[in-house]
Amino acid sequence: MKVVDTIPRMSTLVKIFKKEGKSIGLVPTMGYLHEGHLSLVRAASKHTDVVVMSIFVNPIQFGPKEDFEKYPRDLKRDEELATSAGADIIFSPSVNNMYPAGYSTYVNVETLTSGLCGASRPGHFKGVTTVVAKLFEIVRPDISYFGQKDAQQAIVIKKMAEDLNMGIEIKIMPTIREKDGLAMSSRNIYLSEDERKDALVLHGSLMKAEEMIKSGERESRKIIRAIEGMIKSVPSARLDYASIVDTVNLKEAKVLSGEMLIALAVFIGKTRLIDNTIVKGLK
Ligand code: PAF
Repeated sequence: MKVVDTIPRMSTLVKIFKKEGKSIGLVPTMGYLHEGHLSLVRAASKHTDVVVMSIFVNPIQFGPKEDFEKYPRDLKRDEELATSAGADIIFSPSVNNMYPAGYSTYVNVETLTSGLCGASRPGHFKGVTTVVAKLFEIVRPDISYFGQKDAQQAIVIKKMAEDLNMGIEIKIMPTIREKDGLAMSSRNIYLSEDERKDALVLHGSLMKAEEMIKSGERESRKIIRAIEGMIKSVPSARLDYASIVDTVNLKEAKVLSGEMLIALAVFIGKTRLIDNTIVKGLK
């Protein structure tokens, strides 16, 4: 496993791989790896000859009051985990390398980014699509892997790749959960012991929503009210949003039909966590 920390060095390696006819899989991350990231590396190593994992805490996707400075970083730990999962290269450029003085080009996917996390975190997705577009240009992957936990992000990136004819396949892989159901996230490290227990309400309320749907409920309003009720019952929890949208346009639906994304963001203490579930085949 090689650690590459400059764009020119990464580009040189990419040229060599392309010349050798090797396919490239890219797993973009912000590091502080967990099993969710490693599952993406394992998938990539099944499908592609060379697996590149990028580790870059991207300043432009954080709002001014968000956690860019304190976002957990541990490159040594990440190197060991990425190697054990089968990554061939860690690409970890510096902020100055990615955004030199005078940097002024951004990629923005419209419409899909206006609701859900886009409404609560203005500018967030513009930062995500810009850095992912840059990573795609540098690494030139055949396939890139994203987790369903960030469902809106995955859908937005798919749209960007299609709209800009990038010729890159975007694979969305299942959310990896702790044994008790908490979705794995680098931000779980911020939770105190009590908050860690309280955080189970995210998955719990999604399971409640799924149960209601299985019992025949199709009214969005009623399902959201049940989710809100569960979140309210946990003192350290504050709902940012709970939404039921279709998985293509991310438009809110009054009545559930076809394939729906139930997504929520909840503050547990000061930590903002997200989770979601997709329900299919609704009539
Ligand atoms: O999901 C993440 O970790 C980030 O948003 C991503 C895709 C690596 C872009 O910085």
